[in-house]
Amino acid sequence: MLEDTLSRIEKYMRKAPDKGLVANYIPELATVDPNQFAMSVCLANGQQFSCGDVTTRFSMQSISKAFSLAMALGRYGDGLWSRVGREPTSNAFNSVVDLELGGGKPRNPFVNAGAIVVTDALIGGRTPKETLAEIVQFVRYAVGDADIYINEDMARSENLTGDRNWSLAHFLKSTDNLYHECELTLGTYFHQCAIELNCQQLARAGRFLAGLNPEDEMIANRHVRSINALMMTCGHYDGSGEFAYRVGFPGKSGVSGGILAIVPGVASVAVWAPGLNSFGNSLLGTIALEQLSLAMNWSVF
Ligand code: DON
Repeated sequence: MLEDTLSRIEKYMRKAPDKGLVANYIPELATVDPNQFAMSVCLANGQQFSCGDVTTRFSMQSISKAFSLAMALGRYGDGLWSRVGREPTSNAFNSVVDLELGGGKPRNPFVNAGAIVVTDALIGGRTPKETLAEIVQFVRYAVGDADIYINEDMARSENLTGDRNWSLAHFLKSTDNLYHECELTLGTYFHQCAIELNCQQLARAGRFLAGLNPEDEMIANRHVRSINALMMTCGHYDGSGEFAYRVGFPGKSGVSGGILAIVPGVASVAVWAPGLNSFGNSLLGTIALEQLSLAMNWSVF
């Protein structure tokens, strides 16, 4: 049933006339071929089903924010919320005005400003290298596979062109909500976004958020619940309402065209299609998740 559904979805996506537009504000992403598609599903019984270009690697980008948040909640618990909010926003993921209106407290941990604060918190007294090693280790552990690395060219590419993130970091600094130098925190954040994995690995990475490996608890249950709630309300930025309406379970998107979606207690789903919609979320990835949700009756509503 699931296998048939996946092959039907892949056929549909290969023929889709509108594949969206790849992100061009990060030069390394602008060169990615939009005619690629992959989907992978991990189930509670340990089975994994996949279709498409499942072994091609892509950078996690904002999907990494769900993992840095998991680590920060583990380390600081509710203390984290004094620095970052938990509310959705109708402004873009890299909005400056949102941050100014919030007096330097980002709306949520998934918009860029919020994720920069979370990474800043993760650094604590560590060096960026140590912090990144911990983040990569966490992702490798979640996947159960050590074959996961940072794409240095991607990180460098974003560092050179990420003026918007630089402005967010400087604004945060001006309101005392960035504890390290901008270059230090942003350097770490750009590298975190440049962690590469393939679609099969991403689906496995999400199992702890779906509660699929309870014997191997990575973070407390209450943090799993919090992260899923935030993925549902904020995981697709100003397109989160539309995603919840159409798909019906939590998801976190990345500007590389990947989405990690969680059907609590049932499945961890990864999809990758590099072309984006106007909110910066994967166009075909969202349609694929909608089709999967309908076919499997996986909406939580
Ligand atoms: O900071 C950025 O702009 C990127 N590294 C990540 C943004 C992103 O993935 C937004 N997602 N859809």
